[in-house]
Amino acid sequence: MSNCEGCPSAGTCGKSAETCGVTNNPNNKIKRIIAVMSGKGGVGKSSITALLAKAMQAKGLKVGVLDADITGPSIPRLFGLENEKAYGDGEKQIFPVIDKDGIKTMSINYLIEEENTPVIWRGPIIQSAIQQFYSDVLWEELDVLFIDMPPGTGDVALTVMQTLPVSGVVMVSTPQPMVSMIVSKAINMLRQMDIPVLGVIENMSYITCPDCGKKINLYESNVEQFVQENHVPLLAELPFNNGISRLNDEDNMDQEDIEAIREWILPVADLLA
Ligand SMILES: Nc1ncnc2c1ncn2[C@@H]1O[C@H](COP(=O)(O)OP(=O)(O)OP(=O)(O)O)[C@@H](O)[C@H]1O
Ligand SMILES: [Mg+2]
Repeated sequence: MSNCEGCPSAGTCGKSAETCGVTNNPNNKIKRIIAVMSGKGGVGKSSITALLAKAMQAKGLKVGVLDADITGPSIPRLFGLENEKAYGDGEKQIFPVIDKDGIKTMSINYLIEEENTPVIWRGPIIQSAIQQFYSDVLWEELDVLFIDMPPGTGDVALTVMQTLPVSGVVMVSTPQPMVSMIVSKAINMLRQMDIPVLGVIENMSYITCPDCGKKINLYESNVEQFVQENHVPLLAELPFNNGISRLNDEDNMDQEDIEAIREWILPVADLLA
């Protein structure tokens, strides 16, 4: 098996240059790639990607975020970068858009004229855009590159898992049986591809009573059983918190929400760092 030329993780991702097909940019040194995935839509993948990225950057790590959701990109808004554009170096490389804390991001929305212009592309073009976001973006030195995955286990998931040297995947679920079933499919897909599942985050698991602080489950959670059956660690059960919808505008978030979110995301970042 030959390794891809210049690959920072040559010999560790287990993929041959023939199957990988993605050239590695010699200017990039990316230590780990963590994909945030679910199989299901709307469970909080992008929000959790943004929270983990911010938490890791706050710990002093160098962090990047690749928005692999080409048809429904959320990363620019979650980082307050929705009015930004990405520019090239006139050769082949694209500069990432950097947020106020120094997190490097890349999303299709930086490359189209209007934020709400739809991207109506077929699978192969979407796949090549994602591969270029990995190899042609000047990420330079990163401790961790998060990939915000679109919902599903289709073309994009296959492209990311088969062609990028993903170190592991954080799986996001919510406490409903239908979601667990679909998340199991995604876990099984990763198993078949020999990609480690770093753990499961159950999002919107409960709400906290504002008066007495008691946890109220919105659904009957079966997450303990779910992680046991799927042989994956449970990284966290995150509550419903209204502040999540205002991540892009931290100045206008309740201090209480900021502190609550920090309290539950920092231990997860510690587990993954
Ligand atoms: N813990 C939470 N508490 C409250 N709202 C949340 C929480 N997590 C996510 N949300 C909200 O749920 C909605 C969906 O979140 P998000 O976009 O992160 O999900 P997603 O899985 O990335 O969706 P998609 O599959 O469309 O990419 C957003 O409006 C977000 O603000
Ligand atoms: Mg998303």
